[in-house]
Amino acid sequence: SSPETRTATGAETGAEPRAREQHGEYLTTSTGVRLHDTDHSLKAGERGPTLLQDHHLREKITHFDHERIPERVVHARGAGVHGVFVGYGNAQGVCKAAFLAEGVSTPVFVRFSTVVGSRGSADTVRDTRGFATKFYTSEGNFDLVGNNIPVFFIQDGIKFPDIIHAAKPHPDREIPQAQSAHDTFWDFVSLHTEATHHVLWQMSDRAVPRSYRMMEGFGVHTFRLVNADGETALAKFHWKPKLGVHSLLWEEAQLISGVDPDFHRRDLFDAIEAGAFPQWELGIQVLPDTPEQTFEGIDLLDPTKIVPEELAPVQPIGLLTLNRNTTNYFAETEQVAFHVGHLPPGIDVTDDPLLHARLFSYVDTQLSRLGGPNFNQIPINRPHAPVNDMLRDGFHQHAVHSGVAPYKPNSLDGGCPFHAGADSGAFAEVAATVAASVKQRRSPASFADHFSQARLFYLSLTAVERDHVIRAFTFELGKCYERAIKERQLRVLAAVDTELCAQVAAGLGLPVPEQAAPAPEVIPSPALSQVGKAWPTD
Ligand code: HEM
Repeated sequence: SSPETRTATGAETGAEPRAREQHGEYLTTSTGVRLHDTDHSLKAGERGPTLLQDHHLREKITHFDHERIPERVVHARGAGVHGVFVGYGNAQGVCKAAFLAEGVSTPVFVRFSTVVGSRGSADTVRDTRGFATKFYTSEGNFDLVGNNIPVFFIQDGIKFPDIIHAAKPHPDREIPQAQSAHDTFWDFVSLHTEATHHVLWQMSDRAVPRSYRMMEGFGVHTFRLVNADGETALAKFHWKPKLGVHSLLWEEAQLISGVDPDFHRRDLFDAIEAGAFPQWELGIQVLPDTPEQTFEGIDLLDPTKIVPEELAPVQPIGLLTLNRNTTNYFAETEQVAFHVGHLPPGIDVTDDPLLHARLFSYVDTQLSRLGGPNFNQIPINRPHAPVNDMLRDGFHQHAVHSGVAPYKPNSLDGGCPFHAGADSGAFAEVAATVAASVKQRRSPASFADHFSQARLFYLSLTAVERDHVIRAFTFELGKCYERAIKERQLRVLAAVDTELCAQVAAGLGLPVPEQAAPAPEVIPSPALSQVGKAWPTD
């Protein structure tokens, strides 16, 4: 704040920015009236009763009573830091986004997280990690909301409540906290074999990272890129850490959970404080945008599949450096709101059904988590590009909008000066063909392979890494009470690799199953209630 807007307490008179120093010569109420005492409530006589008329007492207690906002429904525990992204310029042939141009420097905010545990849970649990990046680009915000595992549990977002209900603590005893070692988790994933690939990664060393600084990140979905000539390509995003990928041993992770539950958070902040700024290269796998949207037989709309790097190398396109810690956890890390639909011109979505549910879910949850529709005005969420959105009013509205015509077209507030075309710097959706001709509720046959990439992953590991996977399955399944669930999961493992299954069975003291889990059934026709209906495709 400038000296003119500053009062004796260091507070402001309402001008931007809204940084508030909570120290100074004296305290005031929230409306600026100077207080002479904040340690004693107003009483009748020496020893009370306390008087209802004490506004300062009521304001202080009432505000305290409302300090907490709901934690995120998933990814509640996180650590956020600021940084900068610099484009290499080599992606411009496939993507026109301005922040990827050579030497362009873009401020970013990154939030790392665990998925299952609540806000106060330990850092080093076995879990997938979130890796969400907000790029404040000159063309508006771009949020790359990814994980440290390149595939997901489910192929369709309608199942997200199911997997999360299964992974979260049991409804009766609210245990276990932040672990995948319990009956409901194994019940779900053993019945729902499309989770198998993700579960293999989750039982591997990837799910116990040594440090946030030593994790890869993945956009998971296939996105569509557009270049300046309007040509399109499909792409998958990767973050490659300069420090390499390192994990904890499970025994180390368990010890650290007790000794220092803030281990990852502390490691990240201390490294930045010491000037050891962690770096990642952003990379893309570029794939042809064919009508089938498949590559080498892999359905690119199936988020349980990777495209092996041997088939499509990851090309580095820019460098991320995290170089500044937050000064206020609540204002920044807790209030940041990511959204997979925050895309700049040059990056668009594909028809991945998991991505489509996410496009709806994030803003919906943020409406309640952040108290209404104006959370993009919170400083950490504000774009660095100019905003002229015609959105009005609502809870926590901080803007004082001018003008009388918040609608378009209008002839009052300077009329209607523009109609943004594709070449105006505006975001323009790619005119992609809608492939389906029948409205239906079922998975495509090309999503039906649940085991081959899980096997590919397992076989890609070294002997030591495989041993860790076997021990992780044995440990986590060993926590199940229901024998039938363990037996069912063994049948799933038999469909991945017989040796893996046999070793885990031995560890659990159970017989090797006679039959492996069957491949999922492909339902040949729409359910009766979903009568086939033509959908115009042109
Ligand atoms: C939060 C990643 C799928 C709903 C997050 C966060 C990450 C993430 C990193 C934490 C954001 C933060 O730090 O604030 C992913 C990935 C997915 C996936 C990589 C699949 C590829 C889904 C799906 C849904 C969903 C399918 C719902 C249909 C949510 C919700 C939050 C969240 C509600 C909390 C957001 C908030 O309160 O701000 N996700 N997610 N996610 N995700 Fe996902």
